[in-house]
Amino acid sequence: MPKITEIIKKRISCRTYAERPIEDKVLQEFSASINAVHTGPFGNQPKFKLIKLTSLPPQEWKKLGTYGVIKNAQIFLVGSIQNGHLALEDYGYCKEKLILQATKLGLGTCWLGGTFQSSRFSQAIGLQKGEVLPTVSPVGYPAQQKSFTERMMRWSAGSDNRKPWSDIFFAGNFLQPLTQSQAGKYAEALENLRLAPSASNKQPWRILRDTEQNIFHFYLSRAFGYNSLWHVSLQNIDMGIAMCHFALTAQETGLKGKWQIDAAAPKEKSLDYIATWQDDN
Ligand SMILES: Cc1cc2nc3c(=O)[nH]c(=O)nc-3n(C[C@H](O)[C@H](O)[C@H](O)COP(=O)(O)O)c2cc1C
Repeated sequence: MPKITEIIKKRISCRTYAERPIEDKVLQEFSASINAVHTGPFGNQPKFKLIKLTSLPPQEWKKLGTYGVIKNAQIFLVGSIQNGHLALEDYGYCKEKLILQATKLGLGTCWLGGTFQSSRFSQAIGLQKGEVLPTVSPVGYPAQQKSFTERMMRWSAGSDNRKPWSDIFFAGNFLQPLTQSQAGKYAEALENLRLAPSASNKQPWRILRDTEQNIFHFYLSRAFGYNSLWHVSLQNIDMGIAMCHFALTAQETGLKGKWQIDAAAPKEKSLDYIATWQDDN
């Protein structure tokens, strides 16, 4: 089994943290990845920073808005990006790489797109003009026991379930499901995409495989009225996260491919076309 699959299977949202601080060595390794230059498949460059709550006065903590949902977190991974074409997909893609790295280091994380106060975090990282701060994530060792709120949140979002293959993967057209055996050498990358986290676990990704060529078109099935609730489209971030799971797995299973915008991608009324992955072999 490729290592990335183990990490992807291990990652689940963590909302209750242990009190013990992150070991220095682990924090150093994670910080080095955070401070590197990040470029998404479409060229946008998000910036990330770790914010220690100890650097803010305690009376400010409650104002971060994560209070009640997230327990005991002392460090947050905060990210910003210049607003632009496919910027949120690039943001999701690059940040999920960091989330998976945290998982590999034994750290718990949770994407937060709704339950935080962006203005407080914006101040803390010094948000520039034209930039957005789409999400934050607590980072730390998971507590032995989940809080009651966390258990309720997992249950209400159905976090332990994912849609079956037949609902999200298609071959040739959107009436024809793509089975695992038909997917062949791409099956693992698609399966790992299926395990991706998404806002409210809505799993908005729909993937269409071209039956003539080894290309995969990525579409977004937008939940009605959902995106307007937030200051950025969380579902475009979901798409970037899913693309990250697909691409990292493809790479580790020896598949070489690239992302592109394909003007010839089939159109589907209820779906937004986002991008295409083309196998280079
Ligand atoms: C873009 C994004 C935003 C999210 N926002 C929140 C949030 O505001 N609060 C929260 O508790 N969980 C949030 N989540 C976590 C999802 O609810 C969770 O990923 C999903 O239910 C699947 O569960 P899992 O991550 O444990 O696999 C978010 C996830 C994503 C990808």
